[in-house]
Amino acid sequence: MSDPSQTPSVPRPELFDFHGVQMVHAFTDNWENIQNFKARPDDILIATYPKAGTTWVSYILDLLYFGQSDPERQTSIPIYRRVPFLDISVTHSEEELNYTGVDLANELPTSPRLLKTHYPVQFVPKSFFEQNCKMVYVARNAKDNMVSYYHFERMTQVQPEPGEWKNYFQRFLDGKMNYGSWYDHVNGWWQRKNTYSNIHYMFFEDLSENTDREITKLCRFLGLTVTPEIRRQVTGQVQFDTMKNNKMANYSTLNSKDMMDFRVSPFMRKGKVGDWKNHFTVEQNEKFDQDYEQKMKDPNLQFRTLI
Ligand code: A3P
Repeated sequence: MSDPSQTPSVPRPELFDFHGVQMVHAFTDNWENIQNFKARPDDILIATYPKAGTTWVSYILDLLYFGQSDPERQTSIPIYRRVPFLDISVTHSEEELNYTGVDLANELPTSPRLLKTHYPVQFVPKSFFEQNCKMVYVARNAKDNMVSYYHFERMTQVQPEPGEWKNYFQRFLDGKMNYGSWYDHVNGWWQRKNTYSNIHYMFFEDLSENTDREITKLCRFLGLTVTPEIRRQVTGQVQFDTMKNNKMANYSTLNSKDMMDFRVSPFMRKGKVGDWKNHFTVEQNEKFDQDYEQKMKDPNLQFRTLI
């Protein structure tokens, strides 16, 4: 049987240096329009390093804001249309796959608008700060983030070819990833919080440990009053297995359209804290920990690699 991972239908993009960050063209081509994006004061920006739980938090926010008022939305609009990915521009022969995130954002009929970015904080369009928009940053421990990114790169054509795990591991440590260094990303957003107070910095591991508690914190930050019953409902709807089986949340509508190949790996893969243990060798783990200590100097920014 042929290995689907060996038969990519379109060539993979190459990384290049973009204002000091490694990027691929799909997320820089629309740069001018992105930088000139006109944020509105009630826009909510969900920001993450790729594979840190963006979809999870996007779905939570969508349910909190629109779950009660617009039940049809829950069965008819995929999450990537409800929460546009500002950075992206895709050209494709299929109309469904020919769009820019900025256009999708500008066409959104909702208020507030929920928007997503993977940009490091210095790339975020200035209007979001000028309008004092609320931003939710989700961070995930580097070991699991690396593993999740590796499997994602295996299955999606818009990312560079991941190659073998042992080389990928080194690339991650060297920051040679699309969107640059994980270390710079999580630190950059963490530090920005000191000068811009409308950032809610949350962790994948906390969400995994106690979803209800984290939703309560999110509601407090967003100024939302939600009954315990609705909070329980939302918590139920965003459990991993429920989202994995939900076509509007699991990206299956993009499967096999030169975007994602679920035969290689599903989008909703495992959703676990600690899966890195199934990938890291003892030697890699030691190397990782030594390198981590050198790079992560802020004692206030602490990640858990197990819960
Ligand atoms: P894994 O690859 O470790 O399974 P993003 O949305 O930023 O691309 O992140 C994707 C990662 O979040 C994947 O991690 C995915 O399975 C996980 N994820 C998405 N929804 C989740 C949920 N409801 N519960 C736990 N993990 C979830």
